Amino acid sequence: MMLLFLLAVYSPLVYANAPVRRPLEKTFPLNFKFGAGSSSYQIEGAWNVSDKGESIQDRYAHEHPEKVVDGSNGDVACDSYNLWRRDIEMATELGLDHYRFSISWPRLLPSGYPNYISEDGRNYYNNLIDGLLKNNIEPVITIYHYELPQVFQDLGGWTNPLIVDWFADYASVVYSLFADRVKIWLTVNEPLIICDVSYIGISAPGLYSPDHGLFLCNKHVLLAHAKAWRLYDEEYKPKYHGMVSLTQLFFWFEPETEADSELAELTNEYCEGRFAYPIYSKEGGWPPALKNILDENSYNKGFNNTRVLQFTPEEIEFVKGTYDFYALNHYTSFVVKAIEPNEAAGDWPFSGSSELGVNFGPHPTWEVSAGFGIYPPGLRRQLNWLKNRYGDIPFMITETGYASYPFHGLNDDGRINFIKDYLNEVLLAIYEDKINVTGYTVWSLMDSYEWESGYTAKYGLYQVDFESPNKTRTPRKSAKYYADLIKNRALL
Ligand SMILES: *[C@@H]1O[C@H](CO)[C@@H](O)[C@H](O)[C@H]1NC(C)=O
Ligand SMILES: *[C@@H]1O[C@H](CO)[C@@H](O)[C@H](O)[C@H]1NC(C)=O
Ligand SMILES: *[C@@H]1O[C@H](CO)[C@@H](O)[C@H](O)[C@H]1NC(C)=O
Ligand SMILES: *[C@@H]1O[C@H](CO)[C@@H](O)[C@H](O)[C@H]1NC(C)=O
Repeated sequence: MMLLFLLAVYSPLVYANAPVRRPLEKTFPLNFKFGAGSSSYQIEGAWNVSDKGESIQDRYAHEHPEKVVDGSNGDVACDSYNLWRRDIEMATELGLDHYRFSISWPRLLPSGYPNYISEDGRNYYNNLIDGLLKNNIEPVITIYHYELPQVFQDLGGWTNPLIVDWFADYASVVYSLFADRVKIWLTVNEPLIICDVSYIGISAPGLYSPDHGLFLCNKHVLLAHAKAWRLYDEEYKPKYHGMVSLTQLFFWFEPETEADSELAELTNEYCEGRFAYPIYSKEGGWPPALKNILDENSYNKGFNNTRVLQFTPEEIEFVKGTYDFYALNHYTSFVVKAIEPNEAAGDWPFSGSSELGVNFGPHPTWEVSAGFGIYPPGLRRQLNWLKNRYGDIPFMITETGYASYPFHGLNDDGRINFIKDYLNEVLLAIYEDKINVTGYTVWSLMDSYEWESGYTAKYGLYQVDFESPNKTRTPRKSAKYYADLIKNRALL
């Protein structure tokens, strides 16, 4: 994540900023895992070395620099393709339990198809995995973090039902090469970005199709994930006992007033339920209340069921239950209210939804950094909402982070407070709400290419000097703080 956006701000009604509650127990459970994350396009660079194929990110950044705040791209980024030893060293300095990174599909499979595996691509990821394991750091791999081979985009990308097989074939190669050493897998990162933000023309491939592309992608992402999950479950789990899930980006929505409660619930379903309810619920398929609204909108627009694709009963069964834990990316909360008469709806998913008739923004009392309101209790409420819906399943926080913007120095007290206050809520969730939160992953290990924000939003525990030939990485104050926290396994 993420993007810079201007957000509407509303006046407080029911909201008061409650004093922070501190848990009695400040020590994390023994098996709680601390990590940090990154993704291939954002750090690797080396976009055209060796036999690597072109991804939609390469194409988009090269053809549409105007879509990126600073006109930059990931051609070189942190140069982790060459500097991976330093990345492992940083993960070791922090004392991480796990390091989450992703595999670049066109680096491993230059043609996109499994007919040919790049020797250099395979070596790169083997070196990274082996180097982490040698330092007792568990590799957590994201199979797809937005790097669709351009060849598939030319055939419709995530709107083409064949993507389900293209993706499963790729995942199959990834498992066959690395599943002997990697036990935690994330199939797809943030479908909310892949489908919603891409099909309102912001992220690659930058197509504008909010009525159709968005929902086609939504269904196909779920089927592709399910197929890759089942592949592991049948062929690899019996031997390697690993875990596979899809990573959800879930913005948490709270009602502005009591009267907006139902709309806030629907907005949560629209953000999270469209991608998770089919997987985690007992019934499967689209969330019922939301489905009614979407179907009615489709009918009113004259599209009927060519817009929000229905699931067949077989597809519902195919997707349902395809998880081993819940992978949650949490960045922010919003306060929701119904659109006033004559008021325009903001853009989903950043300020409103015409589909639902809502607008939202951060509460005026919240600190806002890089467009995101900071509201630590939102994470705990979200975890409770998920547990109430899907039951007592394990939750792993696979991303959460703070962009120091516009301040980019080494003394990042804002980030330290962010980590401290959100982990405080995690402790409350674990000990008071009895929610099985198994891990926490800071976004990000180091500053990197932040998609449409280019190099302007800095999320790193380590600062990267992008001007230096060695992309020099320097620990920020938060790196020291996080390392101490991990060593003590307690909030100090
Ligand atoms: C790779 O891309 C860079 C631009 O990022 C360009 O300068 C270079 O010539 C390209 N190398 C090859 C082998 O195409
Ligand atoms: C949509 O469905 C309704 C009810 O089934 C039907 O009467 C109408 O002709 C359909 N419209 C389109 C555009 O298919
Ligand atoms: C939490 O989930 C993990 C699986 O990720 C499991 O091993 C552990 O026993 C669970 N803990 C509790 C308290 O249920
Ligand atoms: C870059 O790294 C190399 C190898 O670690 C080192 O010898 C060199 O001094 C570094 N250069 C700069 C400008 O830091």
